[in-house]
Amino acid sequence: MAEEFPYKIVTLPDEENEQIKRDFKGYISGAVKVEPLGYFFQGIYQDYAHRYYTLPVRSTDVFVASYPKCGTTWTQEMVWLLVHNLDYEGAKCRLDKRFPFTDEDSVIDSRTLELPGIKKLDVQPPEPGKFLDMVLTLSDPRCLKTHMPFSLLTPGILDTCKMIYVARDPRDVVVSYYHHHRMWVPLGYNGDFKMFFNYFLSDQVMWSPFWSHVREAWERKDHHNLLIITYEELKADLSAVTLKVASFLEKKVSPTDLTKLVKHLHFDSMKKNPSVNAEVHATTGFCDAREGGFIRKGKSGGWREYFDEPMKVEFEKWMREKGKGLEKEFKWLP
Ligand code: A3P
Repeated sequence: MAEEFPYKIVTLPDEENEQIKRDFKGYISGAVKVEPLGYFFQGIYQDYAHRYYTLPVRSTDVFVASYPKCGTTWTQEMVWLLVHNLDYEGAKCRLDKRFPFTDEDSVIDSRTLELPGIKKLDVQPPEPGKFLDMVLTLSDPRCLKTHMPFSLLTPGILDTCKMIYVARDPRDVVVSYYHHHRMWVPLGYNGDFKMFFNYFLSDQVMWSPFWSHVREAWERKDHHNLLIITYEELKADLSAVTLKVASFLEKKVSPTDLTKLVKHLHFDSMKKNPSVNAEVHATTGFCDAREGGFIRKGKSGGWREYFDEPMKVEFEKWMREKGKGLEKEFKWLP
């Protein structure tokens, strides 16, 4: 018998929910939290929670998991090429087709594409459940992206398949996530950075709370099927992280292969690579290119240009209080 979903999904109080629907016009179904950890989603998550929790996983699967904006796409491109023995020809196919996002159905509410005020699109709205169906029919070895924390994924997933978890300094995450919310037209966020900053700190953006998400991965760091990497490590030494990931995936990479792969994964090449930069969505109206695109700045520490002094103090306090030492483990704070 399929496992029961063991958590309680609660709708936010009416007033909060109405405010969120005003600020995020794409959240037609409002917002919910999954107790006890309080993971925040659009209401449509309820239609998929059980399917995510019981997703059949295979021993050949490789997951890339993260809280959003931590360097998921960067890691996916690396992982896909390593898994597929550096098939650069195959990598010309769009990343979201080769490396599907298991949670996608609960991110873009298909009804948003019909809303007035949301740019008219020349594409058909996706059928609900379409993305999960695609994941189920993919042939082996599947490379799958998820932003779900461990507790909302198939229990014991690491006993079946490998996962690479990417984390990033939350100060850079909040900036990147802000642009992401303005960029994805169907999410309908038109507010300023300060307002988004407040939503982030109160764990009211999708897949938050950030620290519970990261902590769930950290608690499993010694599992032989989990590799945790950070955006900052990728930036500091892409070759070293690539070799670490290759070894984790039991793939051999020659020095020549490594040079080529690192060049392919460099920010400048990824920024202009149409198979990973999601530029196709700009032509469909899904994506507002003025927000810098999906491969945007690619820097560590860019948050300094967004935070004023009080925001800096408030965020650091939040990192120390909620991080409970993880902010130091990840070297985000001294
Ligand atoms: P910024 O918005 O700070 O530029 P995700 O893939 O998890 O959504 O993360 C997106 C972030 O990773 C964006 O950060 C994007 O620019 C950055 N990124 C993607 N590819 C990169 C690369 N090759 N080098 C550096 N940063 C990259």
